[in-house]
Amino acid sequence: MARFQTLPILLALASALRSALAHPAKTQGGPDDSDNDDTPLPVVIWHGLGDTFSAEGLQSVGALVEKTNPGTFVYYVRLDENPSNDRTATFYGDVNAQVAKVCADLAGHPILSTAPAVDALGFSQGGQFLRAYVERCSAPPVRNLVTFGSQHNGIVDYRACSPADWLCKGAMAMLHTNTFSDLVQSRLVPAQYFRDPRDLDRYLDRSNFLADINNERPDKNSTYAENISRLSNLVMYLFGDDTTVIPKETGWFEEVNGTEVTPLRARRMYLEDWLGLRALDRKGGLTFRTVPGNHMQIADEELERVFSEFFGPANKRFASGDGYVASDEL
Ligand SMILES: *[C@@H]1O[C@H](CO)[C@@H](O)[C@H](O)[C@H]1NC(C)=O
Ligand SMILES: *[C@@H]1O[C@H](CO)[C@@H](O)[C@H](O)[C@H]1NC(C)=O
Ligand SMILES: *[C@@H]1O[C@H](CO)[C@@H](O)[C@H](O)[C@H]1NC(C)=O
Repeated sequence: MARFQTLPILLALASALRSALAHPAKTQGGPDDSDNDDTPLPVVIWHGLGDTFSAEGLQSVGALVEKTNPGTFVYYVRLDENPSNDRTATFYGDVNAQVAKVCADLAGHPILSTAPAVDALGFSQGGQFLRAYVERCSAPPVRNLVTFGSQHNGIVDYRACSPADWLCKGAMAMLHTNTFSDLVQSRLVPAQYFRDPRDLDRYLDRSNFLADINNERPDKNSTYAENISRLSNLVMYLFGDDTTVIPKETGWFEEVNGTEVTPLRARRMYLEDWLGLRALDRKGGLTFRTVPGNHMQIADEELERVFSEFFGPANKRFASGDGYVASDEL
């Protein structure tokens, strides 16, 4: 594709600039420093409910990405430059508009828009929002998407609020009141991925976000499926002792109906490949992992392991057989 023709130069420039800024006194890398395929792909992180882009905990995850793969440019998704408004936007707003804003922000970002691809890391609801990015947005493309405790198959409940968090409590109270009214669907973020298998028709009819990005309605968007199947890897982490997200199995895209749990690979959406997940699985690009602990309790060692396995150099090869994601387009 034409838009990639100037890319190696831009990438080299961006990389040189980055290392000059980050390491003014020392040179980076070894003898093949000139090979820009060694440059780690940028990493885009989308935080979860109640968090902000500037939060210390999130920034320390970014620091860990850079420690694992030195020279990585890390971008923290934000809906507002003001951290308090960014936090509010995790509870209130139209998710479709939020994803569209993030598409525009990434496409207009001087470094991200010139990278051949990015890797993406989504925490909790940030995971399904980044998946929507992959399905709906154009540039930069995503190589690997890693999600932790995300609500890929929706929720029937969310127990996320600390005792004094009134913003959170207000949102959660609203979640179960007129969940599928226009007002709540266009304004309350968790309502837009509320999905009860015992009340599926109303969800299919009314859901403002999840039913669309999951391609569950009769009219499927083939771009969504193509884009998911073109990922090198989708890595879904489940928190083994998650009591915040109900049901926790949503982290693996499983269907939980009462006591019945249907694994993704046995679901119609997979068998008929509504979303490209089966195609991705067939090339070895679909990974299910569990970490012990409650929602968002992740050991640094686990993060470092996944960063070193799935993030890093643009020319990295994966079990899915995929190498440099844009190589067939150059
Ligand atoms: C599918 O999604 C893409 C990206 O959001 C959009 O441009 C396109 O119009 C959609 N196609 C259909 C048939 O809805
Ligand atoms: C999704 O697919 C379209 C059409 O092939 C492509 O232009 C776009 O880069 C893809 N988006 C992502 C984020 O991979
Ligand atoms: C869930 O189970 C109920 C019966 O308990 C059934 O009526 C409903 O169709 C099931 N939903 C799905 C999505 O299978």
